[in-house]
Amino acid sequence: MGAKKITIQDVKQAKKESRKLTMVTAYDYPFGLMADEAGVDIVLVGDSLGMVVLGLDGTVEVTMEHMIHHIKAVVRGCKNALVVGDMPFMSYNTSIREAIVNAGRLMKEGGCDVVKLEGGVDFAPTVEAIVKAGIPVQGHIGLTPQTASALGGFKMQGKDAQAARLIVDDAKALEDAGVFSMILEAVPAPLGEIVAKAVNIPVIGIGAGNKVDGQVLVTHDMIGLFDKFVPKFVKQYTKIRPIIIDAMKAYKKEVIEEVFPAEEHSFNMPEKTLEELKESLK
Ligand code: KIV
Repeated sequence: MGAKKITIQDVKQAKKESRKLTMVTAYDYPFGLMADEAGVDIVLVGDSLGMVVLGLDGTVEVTMEHMIHHIKAVVRGCKNALVVGDMPFMSYNTSIREAIVNAGRLMKEGGCDVVKLEGGVDFAPTVEAIVKAGIPVQGHIGLTPQTASALGGFKMQGKDAQAARLIVDDAKALEDAGVFSMILEAVPAPLGEIVAKAVNIPVIGIGAGNKVDGQVLVTHDMIGLFDKFVPKFVKQYTKIRPIIIDAMKAYKKEVIEEVFPAEEHSFNMPEKTLEELKESLK
């Protein structure tokens, strides 16, 4: 897509024109800028923030305050990409009223364009209410990391015909509730294709095969910045972590050996000023 702000209408139109959508995560200003410069359509400030930036074990501990803080930074970097703010665990699960209030906070205080929340049929009334309040929503079905323990861990979903059928039902319920697109995570590729064909809005896959309407990856996985655990569906397009560590090691060595800072990194003082200073110190 060209260098103009991407809207939810553009995202919906992409499916009609069979144009694949690209989406990556970002959690701060420099990564927002880079994603924008790379021309990705959608930037997700995901609650994966908890694991890849904050060093937590999962996403459950991520708060509204964490999300607002990081969304603000990403928004400053994204001129063109549509910015999605992820609703953290328990910010939309207790009541519809609270869900609307928190979705509104992500937009008003964080500045994101739309919000995302996890869940299918059970969350359709919540989605409908948020959309009616004027806040565009992106759905997230299949493997839903916030409730991964209830799903038996970070595992592929929709294994048997019945479970797969429930995922198709989730997708249809979200479409009826008014989401403009949805994420489909960790399902067999043929199910990804079936879900994408079952709805008229874009289905953006992560571990859902290549017959969906677009792809999303966690940037820190994709560039090898976070490699504690690399899911099967991640392709590492580069391995940035060893490059950064090598740079830090080189810096440490040069500091110890007084190679850095060299003359070109240092400020000079006129000889006369130096002499005067030395004289005054005698
Ligand atoms: O939080 C996140 O990064 C996500 C992606 C896995 C889609 O929800």
